[in-house]
Amino acid sequence: MNLVLMGLPGAGKGTQAEKVVEEYGIPHISTGDMFRAAMKEGTELGLKAKSFMDKGELVPDEVTIGIVRERLSKDDCKKGFLLDGFPRTVPQAEALENILADLERKIDYVINIDVDKNILMERLTGRRICKSCGATYHLIFNPPAQEGVCDRCGGDLYQRADDNAETVQNRLEVNIKQAQPLLDFYEEKGYLRTLDGQRDISVVFAEIKQLLRGLAE
Ligand code: AP5
Repeated sequence: MNLVLMGLPGAGKGTQAEKVVEEYGIPHISTGDMFRAAMKEGTELGLKAKSFMDKGELVPDEVTIGIVRERLSKDDCKKGFLLDGFPRTVPQAEALENILADLERKIDYVINIDVDKNILMERLTGRRICKSCGATYHLIFNPPAQEGVCDRCGGDLYQRADDNAETVQNRLEVNIKQAQPLLDFYEEKGYLRTLDGQRDISVVFAEIKQLLRGLAE
């Protein structure tokens, strides 16, 4: 199954992606995670990405498209993939069509998680992530059993550098501007399925599983 997860920052893409990849065994390709890993390693890509991510701006298309092309060509993507946070602009979506055509593949669904923008600030500023396994929590909506400690692996929880109120505000503005043309692009292609992301995490996942039922058989 070849899937794209769309949604504004904080809509729940990463949260649902964790569940989808566990259920279906396909690789999770998050451009945000790839940039953060490059930043941690101090590579040239990481340094470049940091200058945009720290401000809540998008990393330029040519950089982002290049890393996705490389990742999708890897062997583990032959059984399918879940793209999370890519594409985010129409040029990225057009590039993805070309990449997949070269690989003789095609998107099955673009799953858009729809959440009112007024809720997203609280979701993002309250998010905490495990340093060791990357599991995502929320101080109020999805708290760990023990404060600051990952339920899954016991690792320490931290707050992402771009989850402060000022950067979140800009991330939301930048992403809202790009979202509608991208939704129109995928609506026209017939791939788009929009889900209400304001329900419980488990309810949203149940609906994703329902949608994917035909593909998993
Ligand atoms: P990225 O890492 O992709 O961040 P984002 O798109 O801003 O999305 P988030 O990861 O913040 O949110 P999410 O939707 O995954 O929400 P989550 O599940 O964690 O990108 C970071 C940066 O990298 C970008 O700003 C840009 O600079 C760069 N970048 C990345 N991709 C790029 C691209 N293609 N082009 C250019 N630049 C790119 O949930 C959020 C919180 O809400 C959590 O605490 C969670 O527990 C909680 N939550 C989730 N679901 C629910 C629910 N149903 N109810 C209540 N709470 C919930």
